[in-house]
Amino acid sequence: MNREEKKRAAACAALEFVIPGEPVGVGTGSTANAFIEALGGIRGRIDAAVASSKETASRLAAAGIRVVDLNAVSDLPVYIDGADECTRHRHLIKGGGGALVREKIVAEAAGKFICIVDDSKRVERLGRFPLPIEVIPMARALVARKMVRLGGRPERRVGFLSDNGNEIIDIHDLDILDPPALEADLNQIPGVVANGIFARRGADVILMATEEGIESL
Ligand code: 5RP
Repeated sequence: MNREEKKRAAACAALEFVIPGEPVGVGTGSTANAFIEALGGIRGRIDAAVASSKETASRLAAAGIRVVDLNAVSDLPVYIDGADECTRHRHLIKGGGGALVREKIVAEAAGKFICIVDDSKRVERLGRFPLPIEVIPMARALVARKMVRLGGRPERRVGFLSDNGNEIIDIHDLDILDPPALEADLNQIPGVVANGIFARRGADVILMATEEGIESL
């Protein structure tokens, strides 16, 4: 199986977590796009979808799926999304596609977070993938300097603005020994909107596509 086939396999495996008649939260990225395609095939069975980005909202609408605002939903039983890295503790790095803030909000609101990945995303320790941090634009240099003090190498995502109108800095070479602690510490820096560590609210289930089939963590 090539990588695209693995993404599709993980996406299809996630369909069994979709609850008939209920809304479903949908993430952002190429694996989430494969899930949207699969979801289109069962659109009559779901109530609606909550999107984690403008891109996902338009893809859902194109697939004939009703998109609703998170504020209009009293209960969101499940959220399905990809990740840039995952560990066996179900800690993640997300935000490669720049949608981390809305992804974190939808994940927090969901009863269950099902993460769909191919096996290239598996790591022993988070940090090989540069950690995205969404910042209020005026805080960019402040946050970057603090990241250098932590041993990281910040790189501004040039020409990119998030759906929320903010900038993203990608932090290379960070030593992420304690993901929940670093996630909380970074959130304390004024100007940080969110960081891409998903550990305090990690995935409940990771569906990982491998050569041997779907591994469930
Ligand atoms: C977007 C994300 C994505 O889930 C992450 O970047 C993985 O993307 P892909 O499925 O394309 O590898 O966090 O903000």
